[in-house]
Amino acid sequence: MNALLLFFRQLLTWLYWASRPESECARRDASARVWRETRQPLSCHILAMTISTNPHARQCLRRGGSCVVGVSSKDSAMDLADFRKEYSDRGLRREELDVDPVAQFSAWFDHATELHVHEPNAMTLATVDAAGMPYQRTVLLKYYDTNGFVFFTNYGSRKAQQMAENPQVSLLFPWLTLERQVIIQGRVEKISTAESLKYFISRPRESQLGAWVSNQSEVISSRQFLMQKLAEVREKFTHGEIPLPSFWGGYRVVPQRIEFWQGGPSRLHDRFLYRLENSAWQIERLSP
Ligand SMILES: Cc1cc2nc3c(=O)[nH]c(=O)nc-3n(C[C@H](O)[C@H](O)[C@H](O)COP(=O)(O)O)c2cc1C
Repeated sequence: MNALLLFFRQLLTWLYWASRPESECARRDASARVWRETRQPLSCHILAMTISTNPHARQCLRRGGSCVVGVSSKDSAMDLADFRKEYSDRGLRREELDVDPVAQFSAWFDHATELHVHEPNAMTLATVDAAGMPYQRTVLLKYYDTNGFVFFTNYGSRKAQQMAENPQVSLLFPWLTLERQVIIQGRVEKISTAESLKYFISRPRESQLGAWVSNQSEVISSRQFLMQKLAEVREKFTHGEIPLPSFWGGYRVVPQRIEFWQGGPSRLHDRFLYRLENSAWQIERLSP
């Protein structure tokens, strides 16, 4: 009888919270989870409600259709430990892979573009300084082919100094909405002035001026300082083409290893590593 009463009490609680907007529930810690769990099967809702009445039980996470209950001492409704996403079972099979990693990258890049991934050519560039301290920043991939992956920057910047000291770098494309990631490791080299010029003249005039204005990575006194410099270079190059600054140009990352990561269910993701060995690409599956 008691069990039946408990069941109906929980059912009413579920009906109440299922009818509330998420914003309201979000203010109510464990109740927010009840709201989220309303999208799960009924058994899961009931389990979620049970733990919502228990001040020590804080998590009801759905894994493969069943709830897993965890305990946390944190009170925040935005507990990062609860931010979990179950990946789809799109999967990546060895037979689907192109023998050439650049062709494989191209297929994924086109897919990311077609599906409107935000700035699909934005990539994290990791470098290390002379003391071995790693640094990362976002740069834009401008073109690529079997020779490598090209981006443009200031040749006096912090990254440029680090790449001069250690040309081993890593690139990372985080195509999170596709549950994909590509990591490229390789050696970076400066492209020729002619190649940099070809790209520079294709840029909008304002971007060309911007390259002249910024002594990238240097400490400056104010934004006003930049605006003044911009006015000066605009005045200087009023007529005709804007020349390529000697301190600005491209780098090519020549790949030695390229890893493709596809999210999968139950954290059993698919990872394939292409490794260059005696000028031939070897493909290995890595454990997730
Ligand atoms: C979306 C995005 C794209 C960027 N693209 C470039 C780029 O193509 N080249 C570049 O030099 N900096 C780019 N930056 C700025 C860099 O992240 C970084 O701040 C700058 O290059 C200085 O880095 P450094 O001091 O390590 O040399 C971009 C930043 C963002 C957020």
